[in-house]
Amino acid sequence: MNKKFSNLLPEKHREIISEADIRKRIGELGAMISKEYKDKCPIIIGVLNGAFIFMADLIREIEIDCEVDFIKISSYGNKKVSSGNIKLNKDIDCDVQGRHVIVVEDIVDSGRSIQYLENMFSGHSPASVKFVSLLVKKGGAIVNFHIDYIGFEISNEFVVGYGLDFAQKMRNLPSIYVIE
Ligand code: IMP
Ligand code: MG
Repeated sequence: MNKKFSNLLPEKHREIISEADIRKRIGELGAMISKEYKDKCPIIIGVLNGAFIFMADLIREIEIDCEVDFIKISSYGNKKVSSGNIKLNKDIDCDVQGRHVIVVEDIVDSGRSIQYLENMFSGHSPASVKFVSLLVKKGGAIVNFHIDYIGFEISNEFVVGYGLDFAQKMRNLPSIYVIE
C-alpha cells in the first residue's frame, strides 16, 4: 500500500483493485467506446460525486470527438446502505435530444440510481443512452438494469477509493479498497 495514504484507511481494509489494474481496464473500456462511437460525438455524462476520477481517466482514453457534462444525484446520505430515495442535486446543462448519451457511474449496487437516470434521460428523446460503470456489485441488484460497459464485477462489500467515498471521505485513495 502507498504509505502516503495508509493513515486515511481504517485498520481493517484490503486492496481489491490496484491502480495498475484500474488503468489497464480503463484503457480497454476507452478503446471499446472509441470504436463504437466513431463519428457519433457522444455526450459523456458523469454522475457526481463518485464518478469524477473515473470520468477524468476514461475520457482521456477515448480517442474520438466527445462532449462532457455532469449530473449530481444522491441516495446514500452518510450511511453504507442506500436509502432508496434518489435526489437530483444538479441537472445536466446540455440538450440530449437526438444525441448519443453515455452515462458514467462509479458503482452499481441496487440499480436504483441507474434506473432513475435511465428514466430521466430517455424522457428527453436522445438518439441512444448507454451506461458505463467502473464497478458492479454481484448480488446487489434490487431493480432490473443493464450496464453496457463494466470495469469490474466485485463481491457485495463496501468499497472506497478512486472517487468512492465513505461519509464523503477516502475518495482520494488511488486504488480501491474494501473496508469493514
Ligand atoms: P445504487 O443506486 O444502489 O445502485 O447505488 C449506486 C450509488 O451508491 C453509487 O453511485 C455510489 O455513489 C453509491 N455506492 C454504492 N455502493 C457503494 C460502495 O460500496 N462504496 C461507496 N459508494 C457506494
Ligand atoms: Mg457515493
